[in-house]
Amino acid sequence: MSERRPLVAGNWKMNKTGVEARETVARLRALLGDGELPVDVAVCPPATALEATARAASGSHIRVYAQAVHEKASGAHTGEISAAMIAATGADGTLIGHSERRAAGETDDQVAARVRAALDGGLSVILCCGESLEQREAGETEEWLAGQVRAGLADVAADEVGRLAIAYEPIWAIGTGRTATPEIAQEACAHVRSVAAGTLDGAALRVLYGGSVTPDTAGELMSQPDIDGALVGGASLDPEAFAAIVRGA
Ligand code: PGA
Repeated sequence: MSERRPLVAGNWKMNKTGVEARETVARLRALLGDGELPVDVAVCPPATALEATARAASGSHIRVYAQAVHEKASGAHTGEISAAMIAATGADGTLIGHSERRAAGETDDQVAARVRAALDGGLSVILCCGESLEQREAGETEEWLAGQVRAGLADVAADEVGRLAIAYEPIWAIGTGRTATPEIAQEACAHVRSVAAGTLDGAALRVLYGGSVTPDTAGELMSQPDIDGALVGGASLDPEAFAAIVRGA
C-alpha cells in the first residue's frame, strides 16, 4: 500500500471569468464540506481568474493552480506570466507542459526551465506528459513518455518530490470521450513512475491520470496501484461532476 495522498485537479482551460470562478468554488466548497478530505483537491483557472479563485478558496481545502508559467522572472514576454506573479495571486501551484501548450510550441527545454522556475518561486507543479495516437499505434509510447519525463525533471532535486506530481494524459483521450482503459492508464503511469525514479523517490511521487475522466470512470482509474489521482478537464467545469470525482478518489 502506498502512503501517497491522492490529488484530484480540475483544469478549467479557457473557461470561466473571475465571477464564474468564484461561483464555481463556492458551490464546490458547499458540496465538499469543510471537514478533512482524504484527497488533495485543486482547480486550475485561467490566469485572469487566479486571484478571484484563490480568494474564494481561501480557508478551504481547495488549492489553486495556474495552467502555465513562464521561466523568466520578468521582461519582454508578451502574454506570459511569471511564477512570482502566480504566487502573488494567492495560488499554490501550476500545471506545466500540458499537451495543448506543447502543441502550441512549448518545448521540452522550456518545460524543464518552467518546472525549475515554478519550484524556485515556491509553487507546486503538475508536470504533464502523454503520447499521441500515432505514437501509441507505432509502439513508441514508453520511449516518448520517458523522454518527456526525463526532460521535465532535468533540473529537479530529489527532495522536491513533495511539491511535484506528474499527470499522464494520452493526447487521444483528452476531450474525446475516449478514456484510457484502467489497464492502459495503469501501465503508462507505472512506467512514468519508474522513469521518474531515476531522479527522485518514485514511491513518493504522485502520478495522475488525465483524459476524459468522468464520475463514472474516475473510481476504477484511481483505484489502480500506480494512479494517485486525476487531472480532469471537461468534467471539472461542473462542480457537481467534479465533486463526485473527488468523492470517488
Ligand atoms: P478532459 O481534459 O478531461 O476534458 O479530457 C483533460 C486535460 O486536458 O487535462
